[in-house]
Amino acid sequence: MKSNVTTIQQKEPLILSVDTSCDETSVAVLQGRRVLANVVSSQTELHKKWGGIVPHVARRAHEENLPKAYAEALKKAGIEDIKGVDALAVTKGPGLAVDLEVGIDFIKNLAIKNEIDLIEVNHMEGHFLSSLALNSEGKGQVEDFNDDEMFPAFGLLVSGKHTEIVYADKIGSYRKLGWTVDDAAGEVFDKFGRMMGFGYPAGPVVSEFAKKGSPNELIQLPIPLEKSKDFNFSYSGLKTAALYRLQELRDAGMNDREFVNDFCYAFVQVIVDSILNKLEKAIQEYPEIKSVFAGGGVFKNEKLSKSVSALVRSYGLHFNLPETKYRTDNAVMIGIAAHYKFQRGEILTTDEEKSTLDRNPRLAIDSAG
Ligand code: KG4
Ligand code: ZN
Repeated sequence: MKSNVTTIQQKEPLILSVDTSCDETSVAVLQGRRVLANVVSSQTELHKKWGGIVPHVARRAHEENLPKAYAEALKKAGIEDIKGVDALAVTKGPGLAVDLEVGIDFIKNLAIKNEIDLIEVNHMEGHFLSSLALNSEGKGQVEDFNDDEMFPAFGLLVSGKHTEIVYADKIGSYRKLGWTVDDAAGEVFDKFGRMMGFGYPAGPVVSEFAKKGSPNELIQLPIPLEKSKDFNFSYSGLKTAALYRLQELRDAGMNDREFVNDFCYAFVQVIVDSILNKLEKAIQEYPEIKSVFAGGGVFKNEKLSKSVSALVRSYGLHFNLPETKYRTDNAVMIGIAAHYKFQRGEILTTDEEKSTLDRNPRLAIDSAG
């Protein structure tokens, strides 16, 4: 019996994946859903100086870091010859054009030179499936994964550039139900944090201060699109409302530590409430849903992950939350999405197919490519 299990695992495809869509240079090696190597080279320190991500600065860092991250991932996974992998995977989009290009060119050349199959991956599908990653021993958030038990499902994707509710009949078949009509939730975390004077990256600092805050009746912020019947989000009005209120209260002399904590608390609460509001509406409108998959960097905020978890479970649904390290950008999630594309045969095999692979900075999760 035991040897049988081993045989099945050995047959699972070995895939090396790369993500350079934004400011992390990341390379992973997966066998099936099991992560054998996960290398993430962050550029946070580099971008601090500019107060944000400068695409060309990020590109140079990707060019420098990618060969090193690749070598390290091979070493960690114990791969001596790249020809031993079954496929190479790379993010096609969405992301920053000049940055996506670095990963795509690198993987394309590798695939053509070594005659290895190539898989193009949508970064948002990666976030959607990121909770399915297992460690090398097969342990993880969702160990026994069963399509019938989990689908149809929602993906709730909350990142620096996206805030989306996605309907999935099954893995690989997606339809966006709601999205942000202006700024994304992560983007306003960062902008609000900058307004508060937190420097870069400001989003995680907002979460830290908010933990120490409490409700303060002087700080009332509007829940965006609270009454609208659709599943969309909007955060630019919240940003402006927060800015005005902050200025008023600062002019009135409020600026101590407690005030800062309370302001962050109020801001986080409104973001969480707006997401819960739309998610609950969507769950009620689609009663056939069996699970919700969370993805994206903003789920590092504990209040968001815990509140969404409580809401989803109160409807008797499964809640699939990625491990903390797989919430922000990483190549493991690209490897997971590639694993399912490999199973479906969505692979580029000829030199011609491989060489025409190009970045699509605005690629949507429900577009053909
Ligand atoms: O998913 P991600 O790594 O990148 C995109 O694909 O956009 O998400 C990055 C976003 C940033 O806006 C960042 O501020 C936010 O995730 N983020 C957080 C936290 N950690 C990262 N937001 C709130 N609380 C955190 N702890
Ligand atoms: Zn991302």
